[in-house]
Amino acid sequence: MKIRSYKVNEYITKYSFGEPIETYAVVMEGKETVKDSIDFLEVQETERLCFRYQMKHDDIVLGLGENQRGINKRGGLYHSYCTDDPLHTPDKRSLYGAHNFIVVDGEAPFGVFMDFPGRVSFDIGFSHKDKLEIALEGQDADVYIIKDKDLKSIVRDFLRLIGQSYAPPKWAFGYQQSRWGYFNASDVEKVTEGFLKHDIPCDAIYLDIDYMEAFKDFTVNQERFPNFGQFVDKIKKKGFRLVPIIDAGVKIEKDYEIYEEGVQKGYFCADEKGEPFVAAVWPGKVHFPDFLNSDAQKWFGSKYRLLIDQGIEGFWNDMNEPAIFYSEKRLKEAVEVAKSAADENLDINGYFKLIGTFNGLSNSSEDYNSFYHNMDGRKIVHHKVHNLYGFYMTKSAAEGFREIEPDKRFLLFSRASYIGMHRYSGIWTGDNSSWWEHILLNLKMMPSVNMCGFLYSGADTGGFGGNASAQLLIRWMQLSLFTPLFRNHAAAGTRNQEPFAFDEETTGILRNILKLRYSLIPYIYSEYMKALHSYDMYIKTLAFEYHDEISRRVENQLLVGDSLMICPIYEENAAGRYVWLPEDMLLLKYGSSGEKSFSIARKGHMYLEAGLEEIPVFIRKNRMLIAGRTASNVDSLAGDELFITAYVEDKASYRYYDDDGRSFEYKRGGYSEILIDIMKEAEGFKIDIKNNGNDKVKKISFEIAASDGSIVKKTLKLD
Ligand code: GLC
Repeated sequence: MKIRSYKVNEYITKYSFGEPIETYAVVMEGKETVKDSIDFLEVQETERLCFRYQMKHDDIVLGLGENQRGINKRGGLYHSYCTDDPLHTPDKRSLYGAHNFIVVDGEAPFGVFMDFPGRVSFDIGFSHKDKLEIALEGQDADVYIIKDKDLKSIVRDFLRLIGQSYAPPKWAFGYQQSRWGYFNASDVEKVTEGFLKHDIPCDAIYLDIDYMEAFKDFTVNQERFPNFGQFVDKIKKKGFRLVPIIDAGVKIEKDYEIYEEGVQKGYFCADEKGEPFVAAVWPGKVHFPDFLNSDAQKWFGSKYRLLIDQGIEGFWNDMNEPAIFYSEKRLKEAVEVAKSAADENLDINGYFKLIGTFNGLSNSSEDYNSFYHNMDGRKIVHHKVHNLYGFYMTKSAAEGFREIEPDKRFLLFSRASYIGMHRYSGIWTGDNSSWWEHILLNLKMMPSVNMCGFLYSGADTGGFGGNASAQLLIRWMQLSLFTPLFRNHAAAGTRNQEPFAFDEETTGILRNILKLRYSLIPYIYSEYMKALHSYDMYIKTLAFEYHDEISRRVENQLLVGDSLMICPIYEENAAGRYVWLPEDMLLLKYGSSGEKSFSIARKGHMYLEAGLEEIPVFIRKNRMLIAGRTASNVDSLAGDELFITAYVEDKASYRYYDDDGRSFEYKRGGYSEILIDIMKEAEGFKIDIKNNGNDKVKKISFEIAASDGSIVKKTLKLD
């Protein structure tokens, strides 16, 4: 097989094998042809294209986005194949996303992106502790190799290659409340009342499949949600936006417009005979829109209008791996197996065969191998392009929004994803559980998904499956406080986990966390948007900024934006935890009623005490944290006053970014900046402020800590 190689830029080379499918994952072309071979990777071009690398003892391997296990992926075996699996246990090899990017970070660091829409396996020292083997289920792929000086530069090169991340509207940085089971308008109203009564800030309430008529996309159940448009409006007036779910499968039902139109226009995936493929999900039997066909993609995207016209400004796309409960054919086969077992005396083998037949009904590769896409004239079996399905459903939605309201930012996130989708939306990490282990898993996934461009991300805070305890929810909220998507979501039938669902003391603690979230939005938004503009990550591991051997391997602390290090607590009944400080930092603790305390935490290991009601954050040396006044939702944040907490040894600089938070003006240079410099002088500090176009901020109050722990306070007015 002939390898074609192209230079994309100084750092990136693209290698094309066979006839790769255009995935739209990358935005940069490889132009100049180069002779270069992948000198350090052994390539085996059999039916399964395979790449091997001998890892050095000290190499760490980061990446793979939404996945199980550690931040350093070494030691594990992973399959890139978008999978609907609600039990996120460490033995699982695939979750909902397919993010084929890794960085091998060691003496000669490099990044690899396998742009291949089928199944890929990453054996990262699982079969042999020092061997990395990437195997593709096929021969047609584009492989990008990035070589640059360090981990941070390699990731930035990659983020440039795949294009600028999605920017949600600013309100989507507020807290969002969800639950599968807000069954009718009155349930939703009760939730809004709960927030108002308990003085807890919140921006959005989610509508799960309960709002639909018989689980049909773009319909609303008239009995349970009468006069939907007016209802959306009423809830908005109370200060909350409603965010409905959209599922991939379209119910097969006569006279249901989407179904009828889809069949008539040939927009559904087809079976071997060319008939629309039948699978079953929530509504029973469905067809899958052929999102890989540009006309079908456009058509589905235009349907979001049905809800947008009623005042909806955000959506979550679900079940778009696509999840299949069963297919007609396989259900029939399974029923036959059951029938023939009815009068049998089943021994262990017979019993397991019976159980296995039913357990294997959902999401089976046999089904994924039996329906087809019409990729604009090219017939292709789903299995080969499986990982693109959720991406293209979400692209269809985002492009639909651009047609419907061209200059408005909508909230959009998806469960299934592939690299490239980050330009259109965010992701949430799917059906986790109310387990302590999943707080840690959430923490570990965040830097990995950021590496793949998914800056707008978060987990189901409090856990989706199972029953959350008050303590678990508190600790989880203390982590989600820093994730751009901050949504509490739970499965039907589980214990309620709204912030007011527990005892009064818990409500108080959660209220404080959420009030803090709103006061930190100036920092969170500024850091998020700067990361987006400069192809950076919003959440990183210490390894990106500190190069000592301990920092490279810390897996339970995170850098949030450029100024903060967070060390969340993820163990039940813990009153603190150990923390690694790669340098001196300022420890800022928010107490039970919002009061703050400061101390200098010295470089080295420390035990951090943190009671349930306390929120500790570390401000890095020569950095500052920006806050504002809190509010009940993002739209009512005053924004006229900033509170800056800085730790200054010699000089700290901050670029405070803001924009209108609702349009695409930011892409056209429509944003403001305030440049703040704090210099240590013989006596105290000198502060310099340059305002480039921010007309909201009128006053900045400073609390500046020096290395000896002394604090200076100052307030400056802006003209
Ligand atoms: C899926 C989603 C979950 C949702 C449920 C019902 O399991 O991942 O978030 O609540 O479907 O729609």
